[in-house]
Amino acid sequence: MAASKKTFQRLLVTSALPYANGHIHLGHIAGAYLPADIYVRYQRLRGVKALYVGGSDEHGVPITLTALKEGVTPKEVIDRYHTANAEAFQRLGISYDIYGRTSWPLHVNTTQQFFNTLNAAGYIHTEEMELWYSPQLERFLPDRYVKGVCPKCGYTDANGDECESCGAQYEAHELLEPRANIPGDTSSPILRQSRHWFLDLPKFRDHLKTWLDSHPEWRANVKGIAYGWVNDLRTRCITRDTDWGIPIPVDDPDVANKRIYVWFDAPIGYVTNTRQWAIDNLNDENGWEVWWKDQDTRLVHFIGKDNIPFHAVIFPAMLMGQQDYILADNVVGNEYLNIFNRRTGQSEKGSKSRGNMISVRWAVDHLSVDAIRYYLCAIAPETRDSDFDWDEFMNRYNGELCDVVGNFVHRCLTMTVKNFDGCVPPADALEENDRAMLDAIPRQLDAIAEALEGFRFRQAIERFIELGRKANVYFDAMKPWVTRKTDMERTGATLYVCCQVVKALCCAMAPFMPEGAGKLADILNITLPKNGPDGGPDAWQEAITLLPVGSPINKPEALFPKLDKDQLAELAEAHERGEAT
Ligand code: 2FM
Ligand code: ZN
Repeated sequence: MAASKKTFQRLLVTSALPYANGHIHLGHIAGAYLPADIYVRYQRLRGVKALYVGGSDEHGVPITLTALKEGVTPKEVIDRYHTANAEAFQRLGISYDIYGRTSWPLHVNTTQQFFNTLNAAGYIHTEEMELWYSPQLERFLPDRYVKGVCPKCGYTDANGDECESCGAQYEAHELLEPRANIPGDTSSPILRQSRHWFLDLPKFRDHLKTWLDSHPEWRANVKGIAYGWVNDLRTRCITRDTDWGIPIPVDDPDVANKRIYVWFDAPIGYVTNTRQWAIDNLNDENGWEVWWKDQDTRLVHFIGKDNIPFHAVIFPAMLMGQQDYILADNVVGNEYLNIFNRRTGQSEKGSKSRGNMISVRWAVDHLSVDAIRYYLCAIAPETRDSDFDWDEFMNRYNGELCDVVGNFVHRCLTMTVKNFDGCVPPADALEENDRAMLDAIPRQLDAIAEALEGFRFRQAIERFIELGRKANVYFDAMKPWVTRKTDMERTGATLYVCCQVVKALCCAMAPFMPEGAGKLADILNITLPKNGPDGGPDAWQEAITLLPVGSPINKPEALFPKLDKDQLAELAEAHERGEAT
């Protein structure tokens, strides 16, 4: 899959706004967050003006149901998890420029503007519909407030609006054998009329099709789902019977106990959070507009696969209806990260009730950030689901990052410091082998860059390890630990070449393993620029300019400490006991 051909002046990256109703876990990270962060860090290194926007999704049934089940208010739920998740992302090095909230008053304003523009242009109308109602609680039961049997596959724990087992979405009245999903409600739901506001998606059919057709480079999973929707567009209900959400901005007696549907306001959160970023950082209320309305901005969404229809069809239609907004240049949808159960030898879905999820807060308490990021990138669920497996975690982290890259860096720098007074040695006698290794550096960096530009993160990190492997082969062939006894000039040439590879490894590792890269940059006395929304120097290009002879090198420390078997077994057992959530 090639990257877009068009050239842009700035890059706006979003990661799905997770519901603030639970702790962020590694499944989330592998899908919508780590790939986005790697991509943004890489683009910043290249000097691209890049803005990375995220935040919490704080409306909707997921929040109110959690509040009901915990016996607290929705506000308490979102405050608790927004704070916890913002901190977890930060500890894992997810480098948002802003981590906003859809409960901000500014978001009411953005969402209502979207609604009003669509309404004024004739894209919104009302319809009467039949919805499940609890006679006991005297309230409607939207979405997950009702459970039952899936009309498509027969799954018995299907939600009111969709089935988690087969992925089907359906009208509430199609659900079979409905039962209320609220603690204490023992009544049988009945169908009752309610009037709601609908988005007229079929009116966007041609525009959506033309736009999708202009992006043959997108991942097959995203295109498949998007075309499936566009070929069968229906009007979509964008309001709900609830008091938790954004008020419907129309003068109508029916709006009193209804709010805008969370899936209408959530993606608008990307716009709100950009607005807030511009206010906070540029002191400019209009500073956000260039990021959303200038054709020279490249917009890329990173999401998990369940979010594909919303980002590849519905939100784009909402943007089309505003007239002056840009559309995404890519929607990078990832499959799921499952959990490999060591007892059963089976892969299983991460689930709250099974307690088999690994939260970020637990993971960063027990493992290094770089180890987590390395493994999750190496097994990224790009084209199919993948498994988190503790044995594989140890084998890949120890065997690849530590043994190949960490070990090479350590051997090279220790010998340089010891034998050449802590300076890059002179390179007066370069031979064919040396030149071949130096020539491999830009080729390998290009291969990593090409994979990243094409959103192939697994391939990119493999190419990075490949550079380490080539360097080890060279080091072992040149045997500097032997030549140093007889030929210091040769030894110096070898270590000069190795120091250049270490510098390239440092730059190339920065998007993936920022902590290791930071430590290594300090050892090499080089600076990796912290470019951001204003752009800056192209450090990737700079990585292939050679470290001058005589540059000072500090005493190296281990970049990637190995995991030992006992430590790993303890973590895996704690996870099995359900302590990692
Ligand atoms: O699936 C989810 O967790 C949603 N809260 C994602 C929303 S993405 C965007 F639209 F904000
Ligand atoms: Zn189903």
